[in-house]
Amino acid sequence: MIPISRPVTGSEEIAAMSKVFDSAWLGLGAVTYEFENTVAEYLGARNVIAVNTGTSALHLALSAIGIGPGDEVIVPSLTFAATIQPIISLGATPVFVESRDEDLFIDPDHVRRAITPRTKAVMPVLYCGNPGGIDDVYALAAEHGIRVVEDAAHAFGSQHADGTMVGGKGDLVCFSFDPIKNITTGEGGAVALEDDGLAEELRRQRMLGIDKDTWNRYKNTRSYLYQVISPGYRYHMPNYAAAVGLEQMKRLPGFIARRREIARRYDAAFADLPGIVTMDIDYDRVAPHIYIIRVAADERDGFMMFLKDRDVGTGLHYIANHVQPMFAPYVTEALPRVDRLWQEIVTIPLHCAMSDDDVETVISAIREYAAERVAS
Ligand SMILES: Cc1ncc(COP(=O)(O)O)c(C=O)c1O
Repeated sequence: MIPISRPVTGSEEIAAMSKVFDSAWLGLGAVTYEFENTVAEYLGARNVIAVNTGTSALHLALSAIGIGPGDEVIVPSLTFAATIQPIISLGATPVFVESRDEDLFIDPDHVRRAITPRTKAVMPVLYCGNPGGIDDVYALAAEHGIRVVEDAAHAFGSQHADGTMVGGKGDLVCFSFDPIKNITTGEGGAVALEDDGLAEELRRQRMLGIDKDTWNRYKNTRSYLYQVISPGYRYHMPNYAAAVGLEQMKRLPGFIARRREIARRYDAAFADLPGIVTMDIDYDRVAPHIYIIRVAADERDGFMMFLKDRDVGTGLHYIANHVQPMFAPYVTEALPRVDRLWQEIVTIPLHCAMSDDDVETVISAIREYAAERVAS
């Protein structure tokens, strides 16, 4: 079975991690800071705060800008539950909105209609790595004085239309480095942002609201005194994960090139296939994390089974959140487009361990499906 995703790591990652274990400083430390600096330089970002998951990055970002009870946060229903849970954890209210057919990006027109005096932030998700209509979201945010927390979990290595890296500009940009993302640190994430004061707040909240982290307390200043001065979590990225991340950064240009090559090959192969709809994404600037196609909702199960029988894995990214039991109390309006979209989407294999033969196997299976569909 060709899986939809899998990480690519090697002896380099193991050697780097082994060095950290030999050093006996496994937690937050010099390797974490080196990883942050490397990522910041790559993105052209002023501040990068590395954390233990992408979900923590989102939670920390929302917490640092003061999201809390009584606040509304506008969010697409079509995303992973990780975008929604941090809003609720902080006592705020998620306001679910529609996504666009062509690229699954949050619908800026619906965002505009959803803004109320209680709206504090909007969370666009850069689906498959695509910044989509993000400029429209920032224009609305500026007009209404609301914050933007980008869920860029899929978008590490993508560029905006003006050539800036995702994370190199914007308000708070959150990445994931979980096992199947564009790079992995095992599990991990990061927040990129411009504002130095807010970055300090994020660093503090990352480490329990303590004014100095352990590395700086013991290794640099030899001062054992500390103060707890803000809310906080224990969300830091440890040295051993950062060591993996530094090796993955070396591989990233090759990863992005290969992902783009596969995505373009799929786009070309499926362009005129009846019953298969591809997404409108520019792979000259997007570093694709997943590749999603759409089929008619009543055909999807059959399509996925057809591919499974040919050893091609498929997935679903994602079930809309407004239909999830946990989030039902927050649903205030019908979302007919997302109701349809989440039943049409299918994720097909895209990762750097795929051979050219694997790519051809996926394409042949989908072509065969389309041909049989037309014939029947
Ligand atoms: C859109 C989206 N947001 C957030 C996350 C959370 O990232 P992590 O798995 O690192 O917590 C993911 C991970 O799958 C994701 O796909």
